[in-house]
Amino acid sequence: MKRLKYFFKKAKKEGWAIGQFNFSTLEQFKAIVSAAEKLKSPVILGTSQGEVNFFGIEEAILLRDLYRKKFPYVYLNLDHGKDVNLIKKAINLGYDCVHFDGSGLNFQENLKITKKIVKYANKKGCLVEGEIKSIQGSSEVHKELPKEVLLEDIEKAKEFVKKTEIDSLAINIGNLHGVYTKSIRLKIDHLQKIKKAIPVFLVLHGGSGTSKKDIKEAIKNGVVKINVNTELRIAWKKSLAESLQKKAIKPYKILPPVIETISDLVQEKIEVFGSINKS
Ligand code: 13P
Repeated sequence: MKRLKYFFKKAKKEGWAIGQFNFSTLEQFKAIVSAAEKLKSPVILGTSQGEVNFFGIEEAILLRDLYRKKFPYVYLNLDHGKDVNLIKKAINLGYDCVHFDGSGLNFQENLKITKKIVKYANKKGCLVEGEIKSIQGSSEVHKELPKEVLLEDIEKAKEFVKKTEIDSLAINIGNLHGVYTKSIRLKIDHLQKIKKAIPVFLVLHGGSGTSKKDIKEAIKNGVVKINVNTELRIAWKKSLAESLQKKAIKPYKILPPVIETISDLVQEKIEVFGSINKS
């Protein structure tokens, strides 16, 4: 069994990125894993606290393990974990990675808790993603762009990575959660500085609504993991609404087009991320 770290290292060496696709319904789960299997691409199944509280953490683990019998390279990450008890539960149950989002805390407090989580997770072979500066926006459709663009404080991030020994860092290079009426641009020059200064796997949040060109540039400059959620949610809602317009009442007739639509979108992302045939 290849662990997630193997793919982070491989992606860094070969210049591609592994996609994290969030889910909270079985259709989304099926769509993501089937896209991964079809394209022989490793994938991370992301669950935020809200998503996993709805779906069930034991259910997520059981389904991942069941699916691994068909295609082994599917991994689970707890996305934006803030509740330490939930993070510990995810680690104990066998999540492959946990993201502790202490960006709302002061720097020292974030550092202290992240460090403890790293120690706890490492004993169980689980990776830890850290974050120091909150990534703006939420995984929804927004009208207005935030007024100010947050950029990673490189010196602080360097100290944070060194002292906590996290495996990966969620960076701020102009990326935002969600989809906006105006497109956002990534600050690739800032990413280059981060990459040069900090030896850690770099994670790009807010993968929705970012141009292919910017995503490819980010990968070329060291990003090894990209999180996508809003675009999948939009595809789920739109295709479900369309399918419900038809006369069918059988769920197994209504839901397959929804799964197919989301799977096609995940496949498109996998292609842009360059992770086809990397498993
Ligand atoms: P988007 O909703 O913008 O795709 O971002 C998802 C994300 O970063 C999850 O952590």
